[in-house]
Amino acid sequence: MKTTRRDFIKISTIAGMTMAGEATIASPKDTKHTAQGQAFNMSGYAAPKIETVRIGFIGLGNRGPGAVERISKIDGVEIKALCDIRREKVEQAKKILEKTPHKPDLYSGGEEEWKKVCDRKDIDLIYIATPWKLHAPMAVYAMEHGKHAAVEVPAAVTVDECWQMVNTSEKTRKHCVILENCCYDFFELLTLNMARQGYFGEILHTEGAYIHALLDANFSKTQYYDMWRLKENMRNGSLYPTHGLGPIAQALNVNRGDRMDYLVSVSTNDFMMAAKAKELAANDSFYKQYEGTSFRGNMNTTTIRTVNGKTMMIQHDVTSPRPYSRIHLVSGTKGTALKYPDPARISKGHEGWVSDQEFKELEAKYAPPIVAKVGEMAKQIGGHGGMDFLMDWRLIDCLRNGLPVDMDVYDAAAWSAVGPLSEKSVASRSASVDIPDFTRGAWKKNAPVDIQLLKGGTTRVRL
Ligand SMILES: NC(=O)c1ccc[n+]([C@@H]2O[C@H](COP(=O)([O-])OP(=O)(O)OC[C@H]3O[C@@H](n4cnc5c(N)ncnc54)[C@H](O)[C@@H]3O)[C@@H](O)[C@H]2O)c1
Repeated sequence: MKTTRRDFIKISTIAGMTMAGEATIASPKDTKHTAQGQAFNMSGYAAPKIETVRIGFIGLGNRGPGAVERISKIDGVEIKALCDIRREKVEQAKKILEKTPHKPDLYSGGEEEWKKVCDRKDIDLIYIATPWKLHAPMAVYAMEHGKHAAVEVPAAVTVDECWQMVNTSEKTRKHCVILENCCYDFFELLTLNMARQGYFGEILHTEGAYIHALLDANFSKTQYYDMWRLKENMRNGSLYPTHGLGPIAQALNVNRGDRMDYLVSVSTNDFMMAAKAKELAANDSFYKQYEGTSFRGNMNTTTIRTVNGKTMMIQHDVTSPRPYSRIHLVSGTKGTALKYPDPARISKGHEGWVSDQEFKELEAKYAPPIVAKVGEMAKQIGGHGGMDFLMDWRLIDCLRNGLPVDMDVYDAAAWSAVGPLSEKSVASRSASVDIPDFTRGAWKKNAPVDIQLLKGGTTRVRL
């Protein structure tokens, strides 16, 4: 549901917390959203504590069941509902919970069955792992129905959807958390703390990426529900930017002291996807529908400049047969950190990278408290080496202790908006495109994410 201009003025008046808005000119459509101030600032907002977080999961394909399993090991949660359009997926996910106290109700069979989960009165959090196009509509509906929303990446596929999430979160004061697990990978957490402690000096340039050979997966008939991921690849740009972007945005305090100002984006031609469609169609009529289709350029490179004059380079390639890479580069006036290719490395000058021994010492000195507290358990429980569990645990701990969430609706909107804005840039010979200020000026005063576990950290884990 969209918040109208009139709703907005009304909410601003009631809340009495309007801040001067910053007008950006991303497009005439976007300015209607930025003309007014914030209805309420969700950055740093502590929602009321929830002793037991009651959860409904929507989307139980490749990704969802892992979240069900991880979260079932966290104290202070109750899994109330499992939903997927496909019955067998719901049944499989239910089996994961057989030996646990969780006895969820099951929802399946219809396109809109998920709404019944959001309509319930006894659920606090909706955890969404569906195809991209459903993310924002589901998150907005969940918030409108009194639930916090946690949504897989990217949280939205259009800039308008990003504004809908922001407006709804501010109106309802429900969190809309982007589930960017890479922000919780061990090296990314280490470098975030090092950035905070000034190890890199002034950070001036950062890089992130998602380079993952998914050509066969995208063309597989069984990998993704209804070929949704292949269909997304008919858009041309940086379609999945947040794995690389989230961690460097946190290192630069984006939306909390700095903000992304504009981007330029350039894509190669497609050298693989249309050819693959043609090759498959020659032997299997199912693929005829994709023959002659225009697919995204295989490698996209997007460069973002922040208001404080820093740069962020994001790459996206899901077809080239290269080793996996999620570049994480933090480059400052005093030091540098780089991951991919593995192993990760750190330097203090141009002479080279620190030795293994020095690296270990830096890890011991700068690993943030979340790693000491639940890092080992996270590694045992797993999920991309443990980062998925750190993310889930932190989310639940914040909700249980009434703490601000690490990745709020402004992060969900700004990080996800890079997708559609990059498409716009690519379509206009890489012209510069403004990135809306989803915080409407509040970024200047918003506090950085707490990585010291100053509060909370009380949620226990069962192995
Ligand atoms: N953060 C990560 O590391 C990571 C990893 C993998 C996937 N993902 C994200 O997770 C999401 C899901 O990806 P996936 O690989 O599991 O895809 P998938 O196709 O395997 O799963 C999506 C599920 O949504 C269900 N679904 C579709 N329409 C529905 C509806 N109307 N109501 C209820 N359920 C519906 C499908 O049946 C399917 O089971 C995507 O957003 C993807 O980007 C994130």
